[in-house]
Amino acid sequence: MAQEQRLIFIIFGGSGDLAHRKLYPALFKLYVKGYLRQHFAVIGTARRQWSHEYFRQTVMESVVADIGDQEQIASFAQHFYYQSHDVNDAEHYIALKKLSAQLNDQYSAGNNQVFYMAVAPKFFGTVASHINSEHLLNEQGFNRLVIEKPFGRDLASAKALNDSISKTFAEDQIYRIDHYLGKEMVQALPIIRFTNPLLAAVWNNQYISNVQITLSETLGVGERAGYYETAGTLRDMIQNHALQILGLIAMDRPAEFTASAIHDQKSKLFSQLQLYSAEQVDQNFVRGQYGPDAKEYQQGYREADNVADDSNTETFVAGKILIDNDTWQGVPFYVRSGKRLRRKATRVDIVFKPEANNIFATKLAKIVRPRPVVLSLVIEPKQGIQLLLNATTPGNGLRTTLDELRFQPPAASLADSQEAYEKLLIDIVEGNQTNFTNWSEQYYTWRFIDRIRKRWDEVQPDFPNYCSNTFGPEASDQLLKKDSHEWIFGTDYLE
Ligand SMILES: NC(=O)c1ccc[n+]([C@@H]2O[C@H](COP(=O)([O-])OP(=O)(O)OC[C@H]3O[C@@H](n4cnc5c(N)ncnc54)[C@H](OP(=O)(O)O)[C@@H]3O)[C@@H](O)[C@H]2O)c1
Repeated sequence: MAQEQRLIFIIFGGSGDLAHRKLYPALFKLYVKGYLRQHFAVIGTARRQWSHEYFRQTVMESVVADIGDQEQIASFAQHFYYQSHDVNDAEHYIALKKLSAQLNDQYSAGNNQVFYMAVAPKFFGTVASHINSEHLLNEQGFNRLVIEKPFGRDLASAKALNDSISKTFAEDQIYRIDHYLGKEMVQALPIIRFTNPLLAAVWNNQYISNVQITLSETLGVGERAGYYETAGTLRDMIQNHALQILGLIAMDRPAEFTASAIHDQKSKLFSQLQLYSAEQVDQNFVRGQYGPDAKEYQQGYREADNVADDSNTETFVAGKILIDNDTWQGVPFYVRSGKRLRRKATRVDIVFKPEANNIFATKLAKIVRPRPVVLSLVIEPKQGIQLLLNATTPGNGLRTTLDELRFQPPAASLADSQEAYEKLLIDIVEGNQTNFTNWSEQYYTWRFIDRIRKRWDEVQPDFPNYCSNTFGPEASDQLLKKDSHEWIFGTDYLE
């Protein structure tokens, strides 16, 4: 059984979509598993006037009862309190402080507080500065700030946001969410890399030809179009999720498995991303936007509600990233993410170089044609590891076939797997920052992304330029072809 944690959990935006769809179900899992038992309370805040009772009702409705019964859900909901609150009103923070102190006494919550920002990003700085000016931080116990993505929309705004929250919270109190870091297979990447000598030995430019990171979705923007118009795929997927996965794949071995050692290695790696000139952006990055699909009666991006008729927001990005260090010199890391693509997947395909000396290239064995060995780390939809290896088929002489070794966790253990928000909330209540991003990582990733964004803002794209149910614009395939590579996860190889 998990160790019980004592705390008051304050959610700004407690009536919103994220809170109801992700946070309350995940908090309930923590309750069922015993991380939260008697000594906790949750305060939901938002402008609308709700009673505690009404709030509890919405919480109960949002909790899927697959691991609890109605009685357990009702007793969980009794820990929830609602406080009507406008983030701009200083008086409201004083009322909130009072309620938090009262609940701390009532539940013996150890003077521990978590402040969770589930409001629009434009409010993050405002909330943090009011927490400071109205003295909401406890002197004893812990104070933790959880901040949702996006963390800024470029380096300047990320820096302004960071300066503003840093006036109230120290770096070791800040938990910046990137929910991909809560996915089980993403968390497994360091284990896979650093505990298997046969992988660790070949994890460098001597053996690896190229690395391909794909985050593809089949859905369009749907109801998130309004937000998407202000973001685009580069900001929404590449700056955070794709680069964080790249960081875990390419960082040096940390001296020990601690949050600070992992953050140091990822930061160092991100500081070594080759920064592109405008010309290099044109050569190495491709953007796309999906058009209408007449066959499937699906709208194009520009036809969606809240999207401008002439929108130039990208719904697809493919790029080649180079890392300036000895381990990865000359190895392209290709990243790709988009909407309305042919398959939903999050995966890393690591393509190995062919053996330099093909001893089978003789007259005698001229039919032996080894193909590239590929290690695939599949994060979603089914997590697992696949290895494509050259082998022979009995009865076929020396004719090579590409055989696949596949590891997929058994169904029973998959049934026990934890959703990203559950894992991240456990880390927050236990005070483990490993699976969150620190400021230095944000700084270097935005520095890299800003170059691309700046160039794209200067040049009109020719949108729409790809159809649904494909893998994006033709230029994405060309990007790899120029280097004599091809996407491993594509039309011929979908599993
Ligand atoms: N939804 C997701 O799946 C998701 C995924 C990743 C990241 N995020 C991030 O999570 C945050 C919340 O997103 P969301 O989708 O939950 O948004 P949402 O559904 O629009 O919720 C926003 C919340 O903020 C409250 N609010 C708005 N203005 C306020 C004000 N002036 N003072 C106090 N409260 C105010 C709203 O309630 P009232 O109107 O009653 O005030 C509501 O509770 C955003 O930063 C978003 O980028 C969301």
